[in-house]
Amino acid sequence: MPTGRLVPCDDAAVRPVLIVANWKMNTTPADAGDLAVAIAAATDEPAVGRVICPPFVSLQPVRDALAGSGVEVGAQDLHHEVSGAYTGDISASMLEGLVSWCIVGHSERRRDHGETDERIGHKLARCREAGIRPILCVGEQLQEREAGRAIAVVGEQLRRTFEASARMDERLVIAYEPVWAIGTGLTARGADAAEMAEAIRQALGELGYGARAAEVPVLYGGSVTSASIGEFLAEPTIDGALVGGASLKVDEMAGIVARAALTARARQVIGETSSGAGDRRGDP
Ligand code: 13P
Repeated sequence: MPTGRLVPCDDAAVRPVLIVANWKMNTTPADAGDLAVAIAAATDEPAVGRVICPPFVSLQPVRDALAGSGVEVGAQDLHHEVSGAYTGDISASMLEGLVSWCIVGHSERRRDHGETDERIGHKLARCREAGIRPILCVGEQLQEREAGRAIAVVGEQLRRTFEASARMDERLVIAYEPVWAIGTGLTARGADAAEMAEAIRQALGELGYGARAAEVPVLYGGSVTSASIGEFLAEPTIDGALVGGASLKVDEMAGIVARAALTARARQVIGETSSGAGDRRGDP
C-alpha cells in the first residue's frame, strides 16, 4: 500500500454514481419481483446507476420484473472455478444472461465461507471471462482500524487479490466496507471513507491500473441509510453505496437514490462546465 501523501482525486465527474442493493439472504422468489418493481418505481433517477443483487434463486424473477426499468441485476457471489464437482455452488456461466454485475469478496463470505484474497482474485477472473462487472469488497476489522492499520490492511487485500486475478479489469468497481460497520448501525466517518477511497485508487494505480485508477468507482458500504448517505456522497472520492439492510425498504431506497441523484447531477454539471477542475468539497 502506498505510504506517501494521498492526493485528492479530481476525477469524480468522470465516474458514475452507483447505488447497489445487496439483499443478502432475504426475500423469496415469490416476493422478490414485487419488491424490485416497487424499488425501481420509487428510484426512477436516470442520473444514478441502480443495481439490485437478490439471492441466486430470485435472479430470474427479479430480472423479469425489472425489464425496461433501467435497474440492473447483480449476483451476490460466484464460484472461483469454471465448473466441476462443487456441490451447491454457482458458476459464472450459470449467471450469464441473468446478471450484468456480481459482488465478489463480501466480508460475510470471507467470514462464513473462508474466502481468501486468492480465491477472490480467481472470482474476478471468472467475472471477466463471463463479461460480468465485478464489485470487489474490501475492508478492515475494528481492531485493525483502531491500530491505525486500516489502509495497510485494505492495500494488502487488493495486492493479494490482483496477484491471483492476473489481469486488471477495466470495469472494476470497489466497495469499501469496513467490517465493523456492517449490520451494526455504526458507519465510518465520511472523511475516513473518503481517505480510504483515495488510498484504494492510489494502490490500484501502483498495482497496474496507472492513471486509469482514477476512473474506478469506489462505493461505501456499512449501515448506509437515507439519513447517512449524504455524508458519504458529499465526499468527491466516493461514488455511491453498497446498501444492505436499508435496501429491503422501498422508502429508504427512494431516499438514498434521491440523494445520490443530487450528487450525480452536480458532478455532471462539473464535468460539462469545467472539465473536472476545481474544488469539489461543496458537492451536495
Ligand atoms: P448493511 O447496510 O446492512 O450494514 O450491510 C452492508 C453490506 O454488507 C452491503 O454489502
